[in-house]
Amino acid sequence: MSEQLSKSLTLPCGATLSNRLAKAAMTEGLATAQGLPTAELERLYGLWSDGGAGMLLSGNIQVDADHLERPGNVVIDREPDAAMRKALASWAQAATRNGNHFWAQISHAGRQTQKIVNPHPKAPSAVKVGLPGGQFGEPVALAVEEISEIVRRFGVCAAAVKEAGFTGVQIHSAHGYLLSEFLSPRSNLRSDHYGGKLENRARALLEIVASVRAAVGPAFPVAVKLNSADFQKGGFAFEDSVQVAQWLEAAGVDLIEISGGTYEQPKLLGVEGMEEEEPQHVKQSTTMREAYFVDFALAMKDTVSIPLMVTGGFRKREMMEQALASGGADLVGLGRPMCVVTDAPAQLLQGLVELPRYENQLSMFPGWLSFLNHSKTLRTLATFGIQYWYYAQLDELGRKGRATPDMSVFAATRLVMGLQKKLLAGRR
Ligand SMILES: Cc1cc2nc3c(=O)[nH]c(=O)nc-3n(C[C@H](O)[C@H](O)[C@H](O)COP(=O)(O)O)c2cc1C
Repeated sequence: MSEQLSKSLTLPCGATLSNRLAKAAMTEGLATAQGLPTAELERLYGLWSDGGAGMLLSGNIQVDADHLERPGNVVIDREPDAAMRKALASWAQAATRNGNHFWAQISHAGRQTQKIVNPHPKAPSAVKVGLPGGQFGEPVALAVEEISEIVRRFGVCAAAVKEAGFTGVQIHSAHGYLLSEFLSPRSNLRSDHYGGKLENRARALLEIVASVRAAVGPAFPVAVKLNSADFQKGGFAFEDSVQVAQWLEAAGVDLIEISGGTYEQPKLLGVEGMEEEEPQHVKQSTTMREAYFVDFALAMKDTVSIPLMVTGGFRKREMMEQALASGGADLVGLGRPMCVVTDAPAQLLQGLVELPRYENQLSMFPGWLSFLNHSKTLRTLATFGIQYWYYAQLDELGRKGRATPDMSVFAATRLVMGLQKKLLAGRR
């Protein structure tokens, strides 16, 4: 039994997580075309609840049906009707059937809304995602009243999930989605009080934290997923992240999850983007290399005292234990391994040494075409293809109750594209 991993964690609001392992948010694509949770989501989260994590985060739940991160997202854009209330409650019941926590990740995809969902998504400013492939449309800058409406909806969504039996919420402010776009001077060129200096760029996030806290009360966990940096020249840097973390602490947030990167610079997955990675000023440890953001969390701990969850790259139990023992992480987030090994936390708690690294085996290109990985553009596009493999595993778990890890990336891409097409047709 791992002593470090099996310790409980009590949050500032008073809630207690039974151990230090959490399943990170992973978009499932398993809702109906209208954004209602389904029996497939219940099956998937039932498996994860059986898997031993102290806390499960849902995939991103959207507050606007026109700003999905992909078709099949759950959408709560208004006070739920009876059908939504029932579907949310059944989902929460399945996801907490072993007494673990289940938190809703609440989000708005902003300019990273796929073009097939919305060719003109709303964003802080009209700055398009800088990726080849035509996946994203030309964004339109939000009016101030539209920002207020989004702030209100985060509160409505938080109240709805609390009512349904979720045990916490997380506001998604990382990975280049709307709130992360507000934080970055590259995607936020506004000249009003939501743009310019950092205090203004963080305003939408802090207003949302206040709206969510008012909706759920003082005793309910409210977390934020935040980039340690965007790792882009002129983007949201580590010093900015530390300052925002201090404001979040002052605003009464219970936990900050540290990640990093955007679609343009997919550091969250440990993948290099098309641009040079912008180096950040943080002391590098030599021992915890596999975990992408532990050094950032460790440095952040000098200035904030609320618990930090760190996600990205953790595969060896020893690394997780070291991160916890060093005081850098209070909670370890696990993503990709959970797409196949749904009971990874239970296995680690019982002493499993290392989780599988699917990311090292998967390739968009067959062996004889692997030289194509040398092209930055192709490699970046291949990252999206590989994501489809994980999406396909989640789909298999939801529909059949088991993963299919021997599926090829190509077959997974076809499967997911077919499912997306059906969901899109169902929206019209
Ligand atoms: C299939 C998949 C879906 C994801 N969806 C989300 C999401 O909805 N919200 C989010 O914050 N991060 C999302 N992520 C990022 C993960 O939460 C996590 O930060 C990332 O996978 C790194 O952790 P890992 O190395 O343990 O996989 C997703 C990652 C994957 C692989």
